[in-house]
Amino acid sequence: MSMYILMKILESAPGRYDTGISILTLGKLNKAQDRLIMHIHKGANVLDIGCGTGSLTLKAAAKGARVKGIDINPAMLETAARRIRKALIPEKAKQNITLCEMGIGELGNEAENSYDAVMSSLCFSELSEEEIRYTLNEVRRILKTGALLLIADETVPENFFKRAINALFRLPLVIITYIITQTTTRAVKNLPKKLKDAGFTLESVRLNKLGNFTETVARNIKEDLS
Ligand SMILES: C[S@@+](CC[C@H](N)C(=O)[O-])C[C@H]1O[C@@H](n2cnc3c(N)ncnc32)[C@H](O)[C@@H]1O
Repeated sequence: MSMYILMKILESAPGRYDTGISILTLGKLNKAQDRLIMHIHKGANVLDIGCGTGSLTLKAAAKGARVKGIDINPAMLETAARRIRKALIPEKAKQNITLCEMGIGELGNEAENSYDAVMSSLCFSELSEEEIRYTLNEVRRILKTGALLLIADETVPENFFKRAINALFRLPLVIITYIITQTTTRAVKNLPKKLKDAGFTLESVRLNKLGNFTETVARNIKEDLS
């Protein structure tokens, strides 16, 4: 699962991203997304942050949700649009998808209490600490009361030994990725605390054995909003 760092390389070739990520993660990302998508219901208004090539977006639309997929990378969005056109889901479901070239910095333009769910796969690990804080606050604002935030992402293991093993495997991949893309990802540190600090209530946290990949479901309980 440390292999997630290599997604940065795949992002520079969006046409190969889906096959690449599937091979790198041995299909585990797909399964994680399938588990998260079980929380999405027909008719729900859903936002996919950092939708990339649209894997989560499509899954949610196939369940009958109206989905807005946002991403800052137009090439990823083009691949998503092609993938959606080819997808074997009803035309009506495809029409419920909107793709927008939009960064998390523009979340402030989204209406308050407008989403039944916000989801994000492998995007928080591309954000700085400050961007994560900002995003969580904005997501809390735009989610309806009681609605869910679904996150699948790379995390820093909490256990010291797991953290050391993870760092050992990750470092060479970080170097390779940096040489090729001049950028890197930052596995998310202490996501449960960040979510609680932003005012979310944790519904479930599923970690892999090494603790470096999470599927987290958080609920937006708003009574303490003032
Ligand atoms: C590793 S890809 C994941 C794509 C997809 N969600 C998936 O699971 O396959 C991360 C995506 O987040 C997008 N992203 C990174 N920073 C972003 C930001 N500030 N606002 C919106 N999208 C962003 C990238 O362009 C990229 O498409």
